[in-house]
Amino acid sequence: MPATPTLAPKSSTVFDTITQAPEYQQKKNEIMRLLRQELSKINGVRGPSNELRADYAAEVDRVSKARGRDLYYPFIGSGAGNGPFVELRDGSVKYDLITGIGVNFWGHGNIDFFEAEFDGLWGDVMQGNLAPLPDYGGLMADLLDVVGPKSRLKHVWLTSCGAIANENALKIIRQKKAPATRIFTFEHCFAGRTTALQEITDNAKYREGQPVYGEVYYLPFFDPRSSDSPDQQADAVVGRIKDEMARYPGRYAALEFEIVQGEGGFNSAPNEFFVKVCTEAKKAGLAIWVDEIQTFGRTGEIFAYQRFGLEELVDVVTIAKLLQTGAVLYAAEYNPKPGLVSGTFAGASSSLRAGRKAIELLKKQIAGQHGHVRKLEKIAISEFERLKQGDLGKHVIDYTVVGGMQAFTLFDGTLEQTKKFLFKLWDLGAIAFFCGHDPYRVRMLPPLAVMTEAHVKEVFTLIETAVRETAKEIQR
Ligand SMILES: Cc1ncc(COP(=O)(O)O)c(C=O)c1O
Repeated sequence: MPATPTLAPKSSTVFDTITQAPEYQQKKNEIMRLLRQELSKINGVRGPSNELRADYAAEVDRVSKARGRDLYYPFIGSGAGNGPFVELRDGSVKYDLITGIGVNFWGHGNIDFFEAEFDGLWGDVMQGNLAPLPDYGGLMADLLDVVGPKSRLKHVWLTSCGAIANENALKIIRQKKAPATRIFTFEHCFAGRTTALQEITDNAKYREGQPVYGEVYYLPFFDPRSSDSPDQQADAVVGRIKDEMARYPGRYAALEFEIVQGEGGFNSAPNEFFVKVCTEAKKAGLAIWVDEIQTFGRTGEIFAYQRFGLEELVDVVTIAKLLQTGAVLYAAEYNPKPGLVSGTFAGASSSLRAGRKAIELLKKQIAGQHGHVRKLEKIAISEFERLKQGDLGKHVIDYTVVGGMQAFTLFDGTLEQTKKFLFKLWDLGAIAFFCGHDPYRVRMLPPLAVMTEAHVKEVFTLIETAVRETAKEIQR
């Protein structure tokens, strides 16, 4: 006879017994205390250590050789950091203003996150869609809880990166709208790098040698320099949509867009532009798919669609980056048939737990009218104005600040001059990146969640020095 399985004690699981045990809690607290104490010593920009220099250069070289392409910056983090400061393996410390293209919005060495991840570090490393742990359903519930009272988003599917969230969105929409498959998007958009998404992404360089299937129509995006009003520009876009749908009846499935274009140059539009285009696109039978992979959590509300008045209009939304994992959320009528979306990994246990922490913090102190992002947004705007009005103003062509998405155009807006500035800033102790093309712009996705007013001001002092020194070099 097979042995009767032993019943687990009724009151708690072994997992709970371990994690609630006083000795476990005490050790955990000791580690947290040690980390807090040591990481707090990383509290300002500093140069590399002479003893570590040679080994560091060799390590950077090995990484570049292994991947067959140089690292953009000679950057290898040590793993430690404190707030906006990141420590490199050569012992130097820099302000991180690009955060791995927007991932480390929560700063470096964030012990609140480590605490949240801790209990997820000794069990299953990765969780799948077949046999998840409580973090999986927990994160789903947390996400659905913050979509807003008027939102139609009712379901969520987790993914381990942004591109797969977008792939799932595309498949979900196409299944619902079959046989329609085509997508409207805006010029200069970025959607990811899979075979399907490189066709949506409006950048020919990112799809060299790749097939395109004629599935995408690029609409003109809002132009702040145009003499036409947002309403007139929206009418023009709607006109294009209607013409194209009349030309190819039954072929278009969705309108896909970023509320603030990331790669494309931090371009955005007033609410009335988006509301009109989305309302008309929806009337025409298109799914409204917002790619919030870069904007999620960063623009002053939890979802950027909330700040831009699109809560009722959105059918499908994709998120990743500062969530520390990825997800697609969709309205009930878009719920796909079994088999369409799945995959082995739903995410690492630590990522899912970090995602839950991210939502908790967004709700508590980061998002909203009086949240930390809006507060620092105002300070960044006043610092840009100060720069523009000073003697360096002539070099700062324009700037954009939407919460934690901040960009500016310098000098002649070429890649060459923009890069000169970026490497000058790097030498001074701050890391930014670029976006757009014609003009190229300096791009910042700073870790606003952990920055203070004083940090922002210090960063702008570094920017000012870098502009001044680069201007001198250019004029030479
Ligand atoms: C708007 C947007 N969509 C999609 C992606 C792709 O996400 P991932 O790099 O996580 O695959 C990105 C990444 O930069 C993005 O900014």
